[in-house]
Amino acid sequence: MSGPQKIRRSSVSASEPPKTIPIPTNPSGIASMAGQSPSAQFSTSPRLATSPGGTALGRSFQQAAAANARQLTAFLPPTYPIPEGDEGTATPTRQGKVRILLLENINIDAANFLKAQGYEVDHFTKAFSEDELIAKLPAYHAIGIRSKTKITPKVIDACPQLLVIGCFCIGTNQVDLQHAARHGIAVFNSPFSNSRSVAELVIGEIISLSRQLVDRTSEMRAGIWNKVSKGCWEIRGKTLGIVGYGHIGSQLSVLAESFGMNVIYYDVMPIMPLGTANQVATLDEMLANSDFVTLHVPEIPDTIGMMGPEQFAQMKDGAYFINNARGKVVDLGALADALESGKLAGAAVDVFPKEPGSNGPGFNETLGDFIPRLRKLPNLIMTPHVGGSTEEAQRAIGNEVATALTRYLNYGTSIGSVNFPEVDLRAITADDEAHIRVCHVHRNEPGVLRAINAILGGHNIEKQFSDSKGDIAYLMADISGVQYEEVKDIYEAIKGTRANILTRLLY
Ligand SMILES: NC(=O)c1ccc[n+]([C@@H]2O[C@H](COP(=O)([O-])OP(=O)(O)OC[C@H]3O[C@@H](n4cnc5c(N)ncnc54)[C@H](O)[C@@H]3O)[C@@H](O)[C@H]2O)c1
Repeated sequence: MSGPQKIRRSSVSASEPPKTIPIPTNPSGIASMAGQSPSAQFSTSPRLATSPGGTALGRSFQQAAAANARQLTAFLPPTYPIPEGDEGTATPTRQGKVRILLLENINIDAANFLKAQGYEVDHFTKAFSEDELIAKLPAYHAIGIRSKTKITPKVIDACPQLLVIGCFCIGTNQVDLQHAARHGIAVFNSPFSNSRSVAELVIGEIISLSRQLVDRTSEMRAGIWNKVSKGCWEIRGKTLGIVGYGHIGSQLSVLAESFGMNVIYYDVMPIMPLGTANQVATLDEMLANSDFVTLHVPEIPDTIGMMGPEQFAQMKDGAYFINNARGKVVDLGALADALESGKLAGAAVDVFPKEPGSNGPGFNETLGDFIPRLRKLPNLIMTPHVGGSTEEAQRAIGNEVATALTRYLNYGTSIGSVNFPEVDLRAITADDEAHIRVCHVHRNEPGVLRAINAILGGHNIEKQFSDSKGDIAYLMADISGVQYEEVKDIYEAIKGTRANILTRLLY
């Protein structure tokens, strides 16, 4: 884009997305956009869209809505620096594709989805070290990682054109979220895509524990035939106590009832039961009445150590205990005591207070002095934090995070971000030809709205939404009747406001 252009009149329709859309690189924080179907603008929340059964609904809803949406593209001022490597090309346009770096073997469907949006995607199986990130990430506008790549303040400072980070996993501890937000970088993750996988694992564990399947299998591997029925039970008619009736706990409740179990649950929030489950008033009441107790709470100060010697003592004799939530929620020394004494008949543990950083030997006393004790116990199922590790969950995570990245890059939508205020606007439609969208990340200070509205005041503000989270605020506004020649001035004026962190204009 070497000189002023006319605003695109909308020959582009949702059903016929353009083959290429000009996309700026973004060393100083101007909008970056890719050619993609605008249907994402209309999709339901990405979390809903990837829940079981939700994908199909989301798609058909998107398809229906897509007919009216207008493809947005990015404003690029003439002063914009030419990206490195573009100087020698036939048309040094100061434009380039949005470049996305995917690390840690992110699901191939997600990579293909992002490529299909018109982004340039580099896909690596390994994690990058801090030094590698500092060397390579500055050339990218977005990065997708899992849990091993650390996005530190040093990395963020080295990447002025980075717009968004996708954590293709549950946790976001590997990213300095505040530092990212202060640099206008939104971070997305996928906290609930693997709920079903965890719930199914718990069902498998309940049956395996009550039938001592792991012990029988170990004996057979050792050449021992041990046909016993003593201490082996059907699960029908037994009571399952669920601590934490959220995404996983509530799905588990439905599955368990279909096996004929009675379900009771304890949660700090009053939550409407599914099926014939019953909420109980206290943890003690639940522990005293359950044949199986399973934890599905977050790791927060209130829950750390919530299962200790006292709580195991309150459980029924011969009951079973399952933890697929977070390692610090349980005192594993106390669990070892309860199993060694025969108070509990078995347990399943998927998560540990300290976990090895990589696959291979390493599950030993360095992680806690209770580990050697646990390794010797019968009817104890131990798994390496695989509760959510299924092909389906990986696909769902890939779908959710890739969609969130696309929506943010292309439409400014921050719904689902963990470090940003969540802001969205309904689509600019095909009829709204001279509309532009302002996406303005700024410090949360008084007077910003007044300043921005003074800049936009000469135009009709069709819709506007602003929200804040801590130090950071995010404003989206659609304004109409804007000629291309005016766009640069609007951009420069907003960018020049006192609290500006990042301004992107989409038109
Ligand atoms: N093992 C794995 O691979 C794996 C996979 C996914 C999730 N998880 C973990 O499972 C846990 C549950 O996940 P989720 O998606 O169902 O979470 P969620 O946020 O949907 O539900 C958690 C529930 O716990 C309740 N809660 C909070 N504090 C409580 C307390 N002190 N006592 C009782 N209830 C309390 C909340 O009100 C909420 O209903 C989390 O710790 C998550 O990290 C583990």
